[in-house]
Amino acid sequence: MLNVPPQAFPAPSSQQRAAAGGRAKSLDQRGSQSMVMLKRKVLDTLKILHCQSGRPMAITSLVPLKPGRSLMDWIRLTKSGKDMTGLKGRLIEVTEDELAKHNKKEDCWICIRGFVYNVTPYMEYHPGGEDELMKAAGTDGTDLFDQVHRWVNYESMLKECLVGRMAVKPIAAPKEITSVCEEKKQLNGMLPEKKVLSGASKDLTPSYDWFQTDSLITIVIYTKQKDMNAELVILDHEDKRLRGEIIVDDYSYLLEVDLDHAVEEDMAVNIAEKVGKVEIILKKKDNVHWKILGQPLESHNTFMKRTDRGLFYRKCKLVLKTEVTHDTKLFCLLLPESTHLRVPTGQHVYLKQIIAGTEVVKPYTPVLPFLPLDFKEPSCHDSAHIYLMIKIYSCGLFTQALDHLQIGDCISVSNPEGSFKKSQVQTSEDLFLLAAGTGFTPMVKLLNFALTEVSCLRTVKLIFFNRTEDDILWRNQLEQLALKDQRFEIQFILSQPKKDWVGKQGMISSSLLSEFVKRSRKDSKVLICICGPTPFTEQGVQYLKDLGYSQEEVHPFTA
Ligand SMILES: Cc1cc2nc3c(=O)[nH]c(=O)nc-3n(C[C@H](O)[C@H](O)[C@H](O)COP(=O)(O)OP(=O)(O)OC[C@H]3O[C@@H](n4cnc5c(N)ncnc54)[C@H](O)[C@@H]3O)c2cc1C
Ligand code: HEM
Repeated sequence: MLNVPPQAFPAPSSQQRAAAGGRAKSLDQRGSQSMVMLKRKVLDTLKILHCQSGRPMAITSLVPLKPGRSLMDWIRLTKSGKDMTGLKGRLIEVTEDELAKHNKKEDCWICIRGFVYNVTPYMEYHPGGEDELMKAAGTDGTDLFDQVHRWVNYESMLKECLVGRMAVKPIAAPKEITSVCEEKKQLNGMLPEKKVLSGASKDLTPSYDWFQTDSLITIVIYTKQKDMNAELVILDHEDKRLRGEIIVDDYSYLLEVDLDHAVEEDMAVNIAEKVGKVEIILKKKDNVHWKILGQPLESHNTFMKRTDRGLFYRKCKLVLKTEVTHDTKLFCLLLPESTHLRVPTGQHVYLKQIIAGTEVVKPYTPVLPFLPLDFKEPSCHDSAHIYLMIKIYSCGLFTQALDHLQIGDCISVSNPEGSFKKSQVQTSEDLFLLAAGTGFTPMVKLLNFALTEVSCLRTVKLIFFNRTEDDILWRNQLEQLALKDQRFEIQFILSQPKKDWVGKQGMISSSLLSEFVKRSRKDSKVLICICGPTPFTEQGVQYLKDLGYSQEEVHPFTA
């Protein structure tokens, strides 16, 4: 299956959408509504691609929001003191029967994770459109919501719309699949959690142990995963609270403890890759003997689907902001010393800011500080910083707030997410990267990884679509890289070039792709990665299919 997440980028009314052909223009005119029903749309597209009808792709018709219905307008309305639930602030217990009665546009309640919201006033403000929201009317919409945008911060956005809790157990409660092996009470003094181990996942379930010296606490996690690496270990501790998440395929194991005593901020993480052992070494603040590791917190020692685990955020400091082009900036964020986090190639993080008192979340794909030209050292970049290349929209709510951050200010950054797997590149001989605008961001780490660590690659070609020359990100660096490494080739394609542009001109099209995407040998193993606004990605995927590339050979980047 092609793995297509919910939302594509660049953002809705980005200039970069011009690169996506005629249909993109019509979507463009709808402003941010071109984001609407993205996941569905791309999923629909792929369904169509899967069926062998050969008919052109269907594009879902998008409903633009009325003027005065932006997120900022919604935030203002929620702060206006208006009774949003019709219950004058009273919270009630809602039965399933009661919930089901509120299933009309003019009276619509939705349950998410056991809490019921009156979304009637939000209807006209929902960027996904009223019809999408109505799909969950009068029901438990948790699964639907999670399928489309589990990262959207509905709790904060709908705070004033809260009707109350479901009186019965919610249908779509988080799907915890298993817990851990028997805990060693004598070692850590914690009570084992009484959770059922499912046969299938039992073998995969990590376990942990701990020991101490006078000055150190060492926690050892046995992941049972042979190819363990630093990207699969995410650790945070603040005060006495320790959170360690281990990624095992599509699952997540969590160690979450209120430590018995205080520890220093810095810590060490050792990974025995082949045996899958992770050691977390904490420095005791006081030279005392710990009787127990600490008190287990709510999700301690659980093993569940990654997508069922809530997003975790830590505060990162903005340490540098530099201009990349006239509207795009490179932000450098410093992770806390007490965090161990590496964003894997092809994955994104979510940034969270409080805007006018409401939490707002948006996804961004980390890049490198620059394109390394010397490919001797694998992963030579540092791990304490996260670099983000972000286009600032003059009317964009989130990016404007971001641009107003001062050096030294903090912003919340989530754990990484995304479906791209490096193994997709590791077996390829030809790699083609199709990017439009800030759709370039996932290609940065991918390029570095491919040229540094994948020896079987014969050709790496980036086909970079932009509107004008001024919009091209890191043009010089890309050109230098092409000079330096013979395997790498760059092709810029502009949709609205100035008269003096001698390069290629046009939008993504079948003929353009057939010109630039060619196997170096008849039977070469090829991977084509594509990232840009939804219409660009959709069309690209379709053209590639028409050109005879299989699903396994094409990876579209979306959220
Ligand atoms: C997986 C993923 C990774 C991403 N990575 C990156 C990245 O690395 N870099 C990057 O720059 N972006 C990235 N994006 C896009 C990013 O998440 C945001 O969508 C983008 O930054 C816009 O945010 P904003 O809130 O400032 O803009 P918005 O407020 O969403 O506005 C965007 C534009 O639409 C216009 N607009 C807003 N509302 C309306 C309306 N009702 N009618 C008409 N026009 C309207 C605004 O004027 C503005 O021009 C990524 C997206 C995804 C899904
Ligand atoms: C449960 C039923 C729901 C469905 C089927 C649904 C569907 C969608 C779809 C298809 C989109 C556009 C694609 C995307 O941007 O990911 C969207 C966007 C959005 N939805 Fe929903 N939605 C639902 C509920 C909600 C609720 C309850 C909220 C409450 C806050 C919400 C907030 C948003 C926001 C903020 C966006 C824009 C995301 C962005 O691009 O920044 N949705 N929704």
